[in-house]
Amino acid sequence: MAAKGVAPALTLSSGHQMPAVGLGVWRMEKPAIRNLIHSALRIGYRHLDCADQLMCTVPGSMKLTTKMRLKSAMHLRRHSNLDLSRGRICYHNQDHGHVVEACKNSLKKLRLEYLDLYLVHFPVATRHTGVGTTSSALGDDGVLDIDTTISLETTWHAMEDLVSMGLVHSIGISNYDIFLTRDCLAYAKIKPAVNQIETHPYFQRDSLVKFCQKHGICVTAHTPLGGSTANTEWFGSVSCLDDPVIKGLAEKYKKTPAQLVLRWGLQRNTVVIPKTSKEERLQENFEIFDFEILGEDMDKIKAIDRNYRTTSLLNFGASTCMLSLPCM
Ligand SMILES: NC(=O)c1ccc[n+]([C@@H]2O[C@H](COP(=O)([O-])OP(=O)(O)OC[C@H]3O[C@@H](n4cnc5c(N)ncnc54)[C@H](OP(=O)(O)O)[C@@H]3O)[C@@H](O)[C@H]2O)c1
Repeated sequence: MAAKGVAPALTLSSGHQMPAVGLGVWRMEKPAIRNLIHSALRIGYRHLDCADQLMCTVPGSMKLTTKMRLKSAMHLRRHSNLDLSRGRICYHNQDHGHVVEACKNSLKKLRLEYLDLYLVHFPVATRHTGVGTTSSALGDDGVLDIDTTISLETTWHAMEDLVSMGLVHSIGISNYDIFLTRDCLAYAKIKPAVNQIETHPYFQRDSLVKFCQKHGICVTAHTPLGGSTANTEWFGSVSCLDDPVIKGLAEKYKKTPAQLVLRWGLQRNTVVIPKTSKEERLQENFEIFDFEILGEDMDKIKAIDRNYRTTSLLNFGASTCMLSLPCM
């Protein structure tokens, strides 16, 4: 078990390390972000995951993102006054067809020389409307209107170029199902180090998680709490934190349902990136290294899987559209 205040790290296939707990900041209120990031860093977080629509700055006036067509999973590397010297930064790229340009643009905004991890955000190329912008995936007629000229293989080879150019250390994918992941393994000269996917007790995706891990791809669980009240409000989903099995086990281990669910994620060897806008929950969500869920209890959680995706809406830039992602 890791020492208090230090998240264990997983070693990626690239040889670089990634902290197993991060902070998701999608849907945080903008004015609160700065303080929350400060607090998270003080607690020990060294991994932030930022949403596309977000504009925020961190202490030292480094811009995390400006034009948010990028989804960014971030391992903070350097911040003088907050001792981030061992942190890392990674970003999601949504600019299929303009990967190198997009990455350079992000580096410029971030005032960095390289990123530690850069992910393909979605296996969907929206129409290119200029680096730094994201168009809707839907046309005016409401029909899916995406770029059909750029293959995922082309995008991936451009991601690989970033590594050769020294602009990025590790590269990965996000929201890839088992077949797209398999395909990527077939054409990749550099294997994806990470696949960031929605997974939680109600959407366990064991076959995808194990397939990735078997092939040396680290799985990052986005929406690791099942989206809780945020997804209930946005998408009408049912929260796994209210499940009687989760509640009962939380009581048994003298932890909260959220801590139990995050610990379960860690014990599956996935990285977890819970989001909270509440200071006290930052601490709560980080206190998951001092207990271990027994095998028999892991089995009880396994049994509550509903194959139930809670994040069903995706927002591409200015206009919101609905897009179903592959469910495997
Ligand atoms: N790659 C992708 O396409 C993708 C898609 C979705 C999400 N993500 C990433 O994954 C991150 C996490 O996902 P998410 O924010 O959608 O869902 P989540 O982290 O599973 O759940 C967030 C919800 O849980 C609540 N919560 C947090 N800690 C809690 C606790 N200890 N007890 C009870 N409730 C708690 C939050 O409320 P409060 O804020 O009020 O605490 C919020 O309502 C995002 O921030 C984003 O960075 C990536």
